[in-house]
Amino acid sequence: MSPKLPISGVQNLIAVGSGKGGVGKTTVAVNLAIALAKLGYRTGLLDADVYGPNVPLMMGTNQTPNAIGERIQPLSNYGVKLMSMGFLSPATSRWCGAARCSTA
Ligand SMILES: Nc1ncnc2c1ncn2[C@@H]1O[C@H](COP(=O)(O)OP(=O)(O)OP(=O)(O)O)[C@@H](O)[C@H]1O
Ligand SMILES: [Mg+2]
Repeated sequence: MSPKLPISGVQNLIAVGSGKGGVGKTTVAVNLAIALAKLGYRTGLLDADVYGPNVPLMMGTNQTPNAIGERIQPLSNYGVKLMSMGFLSPATSRWCGAARCSTA
């Protein structure tokens, strides 16, 4: 019996994190996702940063996702499906200090 997948329909998960801010997590995650998509893998990037989500800026898209029924549909750019708190609420950019957010 194959093991239960943590997210239904997602074969492989890569978590990018650190115990310190501003060390390049988003840069690594964005470049990893685009590289995997270019290699032909169906790739999604979830920006779970609630304090200063900057994946929308890095991925060059800042639209508001649509919902089909009760499911929010991810945006897509560079062949990567995207979801970020930054898409859902413009106010999230105010959850962190202005200096920190301005460095994107
Ligand atoms: N390998 C690198 N060499 C030099 N600068 C880098 C490198 N990777 C990222 N940076 C720069 O460091 C800064 C922080 O990068 P990034 O936003 O990816 O970090 P982060 O860990 O996601 O930050 P935060 O904790 O604020 O979410 C950015 O200005 C980015 O351009
Ligand atoms: Mg980050």
